[in-house]
Amino acid sequence: MSGSRVGVIGAGYVGLTSAVCLAERGHDTVCVDVDEARVRRLSDGVATIDEPDLPELLERGLRTETLHFTTRYDALADRDVVFICVSTPSMPDGSADLRAVDAAVGELATVLRAGAVVALKSTVPVGTTRRVADRLRGNGIHVVSSPEFLRESHAIGDFRHPDRILIGSDDDRPADLVASLYPPGRLLRMSPESAEVAKYASNAFLAVKISYTNSLARLCARAGADVTDVTRCMGADIRIGAHFLQAGPGWGGSCLPKDTAALLHTGREYGVVLPEVESARATNAAQAVCIADTVDRTIGTPISEARVTALGLTFKAGTSDVRDSPALTVCAELATRGAALSAYDPRLAGIDGEMLRAAAIVGVDDPYLAAKGADAIVVLTEWPQFRELDWARIADQAPGAVVVDTRNLLDAATLADVGLTYLGNGTRGGF
Ligand code: UDX
Ligand code: UDX
Repeated sequence: MSGSRVGVIGAGYVGLTSAVCLAERGHDTVCVDVDEARVRRLSDGVATIDEPDLPELLERGLRTETLHFTTRYDALADRDVVFICVSTPSMPDGSADLRAVDAAVGELATVLRAGAVVALKSTVPVGTTRRVADRLRGNGIHVVSSPEFLRESHAIGDFRHPDRILIGSDDDRPADLVASLYPPGRLLRMSPESAEVAKYASNAFLAVKISYTNSLARLCARAGADVTDVTRCMGADIRIGAHFLQAGPGWGGSCLPKDTAALLHTGREYGVVLPEVESARATNAAQAVCIADTVDRTIGTPISEARVTALGLTFKAGTSDVRDSPALTVCAELATRGAALSAYDPRLAGIDGEMLRAAAIVGVDDPYLAAKGADAIVVLTEWPQFRELDWARIADQAPGAVVVDTRNLLDAATLADVGLTYLGNGTRGGF
């Protein structure tokens, strides 16, 4: 149904993407966020996150007045459906911090009219939807679970063309109303509990798949095999699927680390151990040491006197997001061993300079200057630009340097030709 009155709480990666896409589908959308500066910039048409197509949709929503930003919850009083998209970061024990969700629910209890529907899009532990529904039932407000599966740098595309639309609800009317807001897609209806577990289970499985690949990479390097060939064969089996089988420095971002920790916490609450998820996290945690050990044993100088250049700081290519970035974890491990770190990333301008300084990383906005005098160059993010670099020029800047390609992005022969020592991830002669 086009033309519903929709609210979104939280204008972050998920909330802002959802708001501009709902407005694009013709729904009058009001997006509420506590961050006044963020609301002001968005109202001025400044995209506060780095997502392809988002600036255009933001501009269109504002121009056609189908999209408004505010810090005021009472702007939601006439809404049919309100999506809660606030952050649910990890607590020290791994559980999801629900204070923002509960704060949003408390505000909605005072402003929404009877018959309105709240859709929980933030990733929340099993049981949260039912708990929120119990709290709002007295106001005649319905609550459904509507987890998102957006990937950063593909978020708009993922919203427009979802693999599946997941709605957890015991009642059809609120579920149908929320489902009608989305683009056509495979609608999966289930209980709120199943929807909540399904979201965590999906992300945790992606993490398990990547960690399994990273473990296989260790075996391949020692056995003279090539993990990219091994996973090419595995991925040809439709039961396995080719995606998420790329070896790397480990998985990061604002979701997989937090969601695997939260799932394990939920398991502990119910007395269920999830060893597959525990081992995936253990493998992930070991990646930085494995990469630093590789640098340590292959450069000709003590690592405490070494200069190392990181190519890539973001948690993956296509975004400027460094939240829980494995690249930063590797840099921290190298710095702990005394190495002097410089780094280049195509999105360096969007990365907090203060954070880099605190991490003893010198950001250099030129890859060739960043590589100057390096004993080792570590490729940590799979930016395609790194493949196009003039590696002869890099070799001039860093004669005889070791290149540790954690993303298997580069061509080994090209680097060998210019006198660099190339080590791939899980490849013959690599690590
Ligand atoms: C969030 C959740 O962290 C994640 O669990 C879920 O899968 C999707 O939504 P994300 O959009 O990346 O992910 O969060 P973030 O980019 O941190 O944005 C959260 C927004 O909520 C921020 O703009 C913040 O200002 C806002 N917020 C936070 C509120 O409006 N109210 C609050 O009480 C807290
Ligand atoms: C993830 C899920 O994919 C998405 O469905 C969910 O809604 C939010 O969390 P995102 O965090 O944007 O999305 O990143 P994703 O593309 O999943 O990558 C996560 C991490 O795994 C990145 O650090 C990436 O570099 C790494 N990765 C991914 C690998 O190391 N190898 C792979 O094959 C794929």
